[in-house]
Amino acid sequence: MNWNAAAYQNRHSYVWQHGESLLELLKPQAGERILDLGCGPGQLTEQIAASGAAVIGLDSDPAMIAQAQTNYPDITFQVGDAANFQLSEPVDAVFSNAALHWVTQAEPAAHCIAAALKLGGRFIVEFGGKGNVQTILKALSEVSRRSLNPWYFPSLSEYATLLESAGLEVVYAHLFDRPMPLGEAGLAGWLEMFGQRFFTDLSAEAWAETVRAVEAAAPQLYQEKEWIADYRRLRVIAMKPDEELL
Ligand code: BEZ
Repeated sequence: MNWNAAAYQNRHSYVWQHGESLLELLKPQAGERILDLGCGPGQLTEQIAASGAAVIGLDSDPAMIAQAQTNYPDITFQVGDAANFQLSEPVDAVFSNAALHWVTQAEPAAHCIAAALKLGGRFIVEFGGKGNVQTILKALSEVSRRSLNPWYFPSLSEYATLLESAGLEVVYAHLFDRPMPLGEAGLAGWLEMFGQRFFTDLSAEAWAETVRAVEAAAPQLYQEKEWIADYRRLRVIAMKPDEELL
C-alpha cells in the first residue's frame, strides 16, 4: 500500500488521537516488550515507549516507516506485513490501532499475532468493525457503479471466533459507533487519502467529479457545517493463555 505519509500525519491526526484511549487499555509497563502493529507514523509507538516499555513499530508501508523513523529516531521501526511476520523474541503485548481493517488476510494475521505473544501475553486492538463507513461505501459504490469494500470490517462474533481459532482467549469485545469529524480535510480529504487508491484508472477531473457525486449522495454525513464519517469501532482484548485450556 502506498501512502502519502506526510499528508496522513498532518491531516488525519484524529487517527492516533483516538488511539490514546486504547493505550489506557494497554497499560504499558516499564520493562515490557511491546509490538505496535500497523504503527503508521509512530505517534502511539512513541507514547508506548514513554512508559519505559521496549517497543517495536511494524508497518507494511515503507513511507510510513520512514516517516516514523524520522519522527522518532530512537525507536525501532520495521517494514513488515501483519499477515506474515515473525519476531526474533516474543512480546508481552501486541497493540494495534486503526490498522487491521487494511489487512484482509485476517486469519494469517491472527496466527502471526498469537505466535508473537509470550504465554500470558495480551492483544489490544481497535479497528473498523462491521458497518464501518457504511454510508461512505454505499455512496462510493453507487457513484462508481461497482461494489466496493476493500477493507476488513468483521462483526464482533466473527473476529472473536477468528482469534479463538488462532489460540487466543477473548476477554473483552465491544462494537460501537464513533462518528468522526473530518475537520478541514472534509469528506473530499478522506476520500483522497483512503479511497482514491482504488480508482487509479480515473483522470484527475473524473476523480473530482466522483468526489462531488459521493458528497451529494451522502448528505446525512454533513452536519452543522462539518463532514462526519460514520466510523464504527471494534475494540478487543484477547489473551494468550498460560496453559492450554480444556
Ligand atoms: C477507519 O479508520 O475506519 C478507516 C480508515 C480508512 C479507510 C477505511 C476505514
